[in-house]
Amino acid sequence: MKPRPIIIDTDPSPDDAVTFLVALASPAELEVLAVTTVAGNVPLPLTSKNALKALELAGRTETRVFAGASAPLMRRLVTAEHVHGRTGFDGYDLPDPVTPLAPGFAPEVIVDLVMCREPGEVTLCCLAPLTNIALALAKEPRLAGHLREIVLMGGSFSEGGNVTPAAEFNIYVDPEAAAKVLDCGAPITMIPLDCTHQALNTQARLDKLRAVGTPLTEAFYHLLKFNKMFDEQKYGWEGGPLHDPTVVAYLLAPHLFSGRKANIVVECASSLTLGMTVVDWWSVTERKPNVQLLRNIDAHGYFDLVIDRLSRL
Ligand code: RIB
Ligand code: CA
Repeated sequence: MKPRPIIIDTDPSPDDAVTFLVALASPAELEVLAVTTVAGNVPLPLTSKNALKALELAGRTETRVFAGASAPLMRRLVTAEHVHGRTGFDGYDLPDPVTPLAPGFAPEVIVDLVMCREPGEVTLCCLAPLTNIALALAKEPRLAGHLREIVLMGGSFSEGGNVTPAAEFNIYVDPEAAAKVLDCGAPITMIPLDCTHQALNTQARLDKLRAVGTPLTEAFYHLLKFNKMFDEQKYGWEGGPLHDPTVVAYLLAPHLFSGRKANIVVECASSLTLGMTVVDWWSVTERKPNVQLLRNIDAHGYFDLVIDRLSRL
């Protein structure tokens, strides 16, 4: 069977980088057409630099990285250095990348890569604020109908928010972009905090990663160890959620997840609940189900998959 073509839109902190590395380690199942970067965890120059650093560490510099939006559609950028460090990749010093960014603006590249293939071929894997995706949808009105699926890490149902009491970071940073994406008509699968908070990167799991014994797994042992500190202190858990790789894990092993279709809309007006993903789980409104919401994950199977694939690089 031909590998599934995907584009990964990302704001690398380490969980993002693990996502596209797991995808690159799975050539039989996935064809990574491009990595596109956006401002989010840290400003665009740093998210782009971190993507290139991770690809160089993995020896996969043939993978093209295109930079995209440096700010949300309508708001000032909110970043998360308090979680990921000033660089977004604190915890392990990787050399500055020598690989250049590929020429092109990510939203335009997304349109070109999708529209040059047959309808229903390409899947967008979204790990960050959805600014690039919303811009691509605005540039090419046929894009939504040409996509196989949009799989995104973001939002929250009954778990509450992680950046405000109501909102998850990727949605909160650019709620207008998220609203446009959820309303675009493409098949959408959303992996919210309800799911990713079940997938904690514990010390035991990190030790298993380190035991693989490659320079890449050693680096990501330290990067992920740093990355989970904030959430461990915040939530009092033995580990931090490994959010973004759930997107690629869903493509590789959908049996690890469960959920159902529901209507989801994004709050873009209220200052109290800005960025909240309002999930009509019990169909109490007339609003049409537009998203497959994944609420549960087999965390053991997930980490086994992630560690196995990283060990192949
Ligand atoms: O809320 C979690 C999301 O915010 C993840 O994508 C993480 O990388 C950060 O971007
Ligand atoms: Ca991310």
